[in-house]
Amino acid sequence: MRVSGAAQAWSVLTLLSAIFSSSVLAIQLDPTTPDSVRTTAKHVAEVLVSMYKNPQTGALHSGIPGLLQYPPYYWWEAGAMFGQLIDYWYYTGDSTYNDMVKEAILHQSWGIGQNFMPANQSKDLGNDDQLFWAFTVMSAAEYNFPNPPSEQLGWLGMAQSIFNQLAGRWDNETCRGGIRWQIHPHLPGFDYKNMASNGGYFQLGARLALYTGNDTYAQKAEEMFDWLEYTSPLISQDFQVFDGSDVLKADHTQWSYNYGIMIGGAAYMYNYTSGAQHWRDRLQGFINHTDTFFQPKYGQVMMELCEIEQKCDVDQVSFKGYLARWYAVAVQLAPFTAPQLVPHLRKSGVAAAQACVGTCKTSSQPYACGNRWYWDGYDGNGGAGQQLAALSVISANLITESGPILRNSTGGTSKGDPGAGNDDNENLPIYDDHAITTGDRAGAVMLTLLLVGNTVLGAWYLLN
Ligand SMILES: *[C@@H]1O[C@H](CO)[C@@H](O)[C@H](O)[C@H]1NC(C)=O
Ligand SMILES: *[C@@H]1O[C@H](CO)[C@@H](O)[C@H](O)[C@H]1NC(C)=O
Ligand SMILES: *[C@@H]1O[C@H](CO)[C@@H](O)[C@H](O)[C@H]1NC(C)=O
Ligand SMILES: *[C@@H]1O[C@H](CO)[C@@H](O)[C@H](O)[C@H]1NC(C)=O
Ligand SMILES: *[C@@H]1O[C@H](CO)[C@@H](O)[C@H](O)[C@H]1NC(C)=O
Ligand SMILES: *[C@@H]1O[C@H](CO)[C@@H](O)[C@H](O)[C@H]1NC(C)=O
Repeated sequence: MRVSGAAQAWSVLTLLSAIFSSSVLAIQLDPTTPDSVRTTAKHVAEVLVSMYKNPQTGALHSGIPGLLQYPPYYWWEAGAMFGQLIDYWYYTGDSTYNDMVKEAILHQSWGIGQNFMPANQSKDLGNDDQLFWAFTVMSAAEYNFPNPPSEQLGWLGMAQSIFNQLAGRWDNETCRGGIRWQIHPHLPGFDYKNMASNGGYFQLGARLALYTGNDTYAQKAEEMFDWLEYTSPLISQDFQVFDGSDVLKADHTQWSYNYGIMIGGAAYMYNYTSGAQHWRDRLQGFINHTDTFFQPKYGQVMMELCEIEQKCDVDQVSFKGYLARWYAVAVQLAPFTAPQLVPHLRKSGVAAAQACVGTCKTSSQPYACGNRWYWDGYDGNGGAGQQLAALSVISANLITESGPILRNSTGGTSKGDPGAGNDDNENLPIYDDHAITTGDRAGAVMLTLLLVGNTVLGAWYLLN
C-alpha cells in the first residue's frame, strides 16, 4: 500500500519496533463472505475484551464492572466499547460476551435512579459522555439484547432517562439555545456547546421516535436540528459539521464521529418520516462531506485527519469506528445510500483487518489492530479505541445480512418509562473541587478537542 513521504519517514523510525510487535500473520478479509467477516470479527473482539479483563487474575474486569482501566480510558469510551460489543453480537450472532456486557452497563447505570451519572465519574461526565452510554442502551433496545431484570428500568427506559435529562438542560442563555458540553458549571467546557452533545441529543431523539412511535421525540429532534443548522455555527448551510462553539468563535475542526452522529440521526429521521425529501437531502449532504476521511493519497481508506501526523489522542483513535457504525445504520434505514456507503465499508473493512496483526500485552492472540488502516500491516499504535474502531468497520460488513432495527411495534421488547430522568437535573453528581488536580483538568474527557488547532479556545482554556 502506498504511503506518503511523512508516513515513510515514520515507518523507518518505527521499523524496529514493528518487527517486534507485528506477527507474521496476514489477515485477508473477504467482506462479501459472512463467515470470513465473522471469523475476523471474533479474533478482533477477543483482543478488545482482553483489554477489559483483569490481566493478573483473568477475571472479567479489573474490579469495577463497566470501566476500562489500563491505560486511562475515559468513562464514555467504555460505554462506546460495550455498545460495540452489542453490535458485535447483533452482527455475528456470537453471544459469548452478552452477560459480561449486561453486567457492565447495569453497574454503570447507577446514578440516582439509573440515570447514568455515577458519582465516581463526576469529574469526567459531560452530556456527550452520557450520550455514548445512551447510544449503547438504545442499540440494546433496537436489537432485542437480553433485557435487564424486570424490577429495573428497561434499556429503553434508560435511554429515555438520559434524553429527558438532556432536554432539561436546554439552555437559551447563550447562543440562543442548544445544550452545553459539560453538565457541571465548575468543569472546563461548560461554556462550550459541542457537536457531540447537541448532535447526539438529535440522534437519540430520532431513535426514540422510531422505536416508540412517539412524535414528541421527533419534534424535539427537529428543534435541535434547526438550532444546529440555522442558529448555531455548528452545521453550515451545505451540511459541513464542525466540532463546537463558544461565545467567541466556532471550532471548525472536522471529526469523523461528528459526521457519524449526524448521518445516523438523519437516517433515523429519514426512516421515521417514511423517506421525507428534506431528510434525504440532509443525509446526502452530510455523507458528501465525509470524502475528507477517504483521501486518494491514503488509498481511500477511512482515516481520522489527526492520523497523518499521528497526533490522535486516546479518544480520537476510536472516532472512525462511529462513522462506520452509523454508515451501516444508514445503509439499513435509508437503502438509497447503500451504493455509496457499502463500497467504503468493504474497502475500509479489508484495510482494517490487515492492520490487525499486532500483539498487545493483554492478550496472547496476535490480532491487535493498529491506528492507521492505510498502513501495510500493524503500525505499532494499538489500544482499546483502535480495537473497537476496527471491530466496528469489519463487522459492519454484515449489515446486509442482519435483521432490521426493531421498534416497539415490530417486536422490540424493551420496557420504557417516558418520565424517567425528568427530576434528575436537581440531583447532579456531587462535585468535589479539591479532588480535581490540574492533571485531571487537562485530561477532562475530550478536552483536547478544544485545543487542537484552535488558539482562541486554547487561550480561553488557559484563562480559566
Ligand atoms: C465507584 O467506586 C467504588 C469504589 O471503588 C466501587 O465499589 C463502585 O463499584 C464504583 N461505582 C461505579 C458505578 O462504578
Ligand atoms: C428557548 O427559546 C425557545 C424559542 O424562543 C422557546 O420556544 C423555548 O421554550 C425556550 N426554552 C427554554 C428552556 O427556556
Ligand atoms: C411521549 O414522549 C413525551 C416526552 O418524553 C412524554 O411526555 C409522553 O408521555 C410520551 N407519550 C407517550 C404516549 O408515551
Ligand atoms: C452530493 O454530491 C453529489 C455528487 O457530487 C451531488 O450531485 C449532490 O448534489 C450532493 N448533494 C447534496 C445534498 O449536497
Ligand atoms: C426504513 O427501514 C427499513 C429497514 O428497517 C427499510 O426496509 C425501509 O425501506 C426504510 N424506509 C425507507 C423510506 O427507506
Ligand atoms: C409496545 O407494544 C406493546 C405490545 O404490542 C404494547 O402493549 C405497548 O403499549 C407498547 N408500548 C408503547 C410505549 O407504545
